[in-house]
Amino acid sequence: MSLYTARVLVFFFCLFDWSLAASTPNVVFVLADDYGYNDIGYHGSEIQTPTLDKLAQSGVKLENYYVQPICSPTRSQLMSGRYQIHTGLQHSIIWPEQPNGLPLNSPTLADKMKEAGYSTHMVGKWHLGFYKKEYLPWKRGFDTYFGYLTGSEDYFKHIRKTSFTHKAYLDLHNEQGPVKNESGHYSAHLFTQKAIDVVNSHNKKKVKEVNV
Ligand SMILES: *[C@@H]1O[C@H](CO)[C@@H](O)[C@H](O)[C@H]1NC(C)=O
Repeated sequence: MSLYTARVLVFFFCLFDWSLAASTPNVVFVLADDYGYNDIGYHGSEIQTPTLDKLAQSGVKLENYYVQPICSPTRSQLMSGRYQIHTGLQHSIIWPEQPNGLPLNSPTLADKMKEAGYSTHMVGKWHLGFYKKEYLPWKRGFDTYFGYLTGSEDYFKHIRKTSFTHKAYLDLHNEQGPVKNESGHYSAHLFTQKAIDVVNSHNKKKVKEVNV
């Protein structure tokens, strides 16, 4: 499994408390990591993607845009709004043993959505720092998280190997800590179920204070 070809869906959910403003939309952001231009059905790919094609047909297609060539630099820009030369994440990905992360003085998109009164949830790959607790997604603006913290995983066992000593370890976490009981549950199905659970368990009546 190559770090650079693993395709991974990341779901961000920003669910609004309807009591605050009925016109404020809920936001579901789906990021397909390493998704090639020709990997989508409506670009003529042999890979069939009927659901994504349907969504694109009724929405806006971005056909010409630029991102960084690999994972951590790109997702750090998305999450912080800062170019990666300003966050120290321009070189490569964050390796399992590497003490690096999106700097703590950069608020994340999730921090900002929370400030605006949203509940915030994430399912999938993080890869923006994990060497200290403060860098974990549930400390960076997400109310809940379920997924893996590094760049790729074994889709069934949810393990990852360290880069230098090749030791296998569990990389599946939620905001309470390691998730040890999902070995054998295929990631695409597991993450889809978690995403559905997030939407279904959202308390629409919850009232929050909004910072203005
Ligand atoms: C693993 O544990 C969590 C929390 O108790 C539970 O919600 C989930 O259904 C369990 N998964 C399996 C496959 O038993």
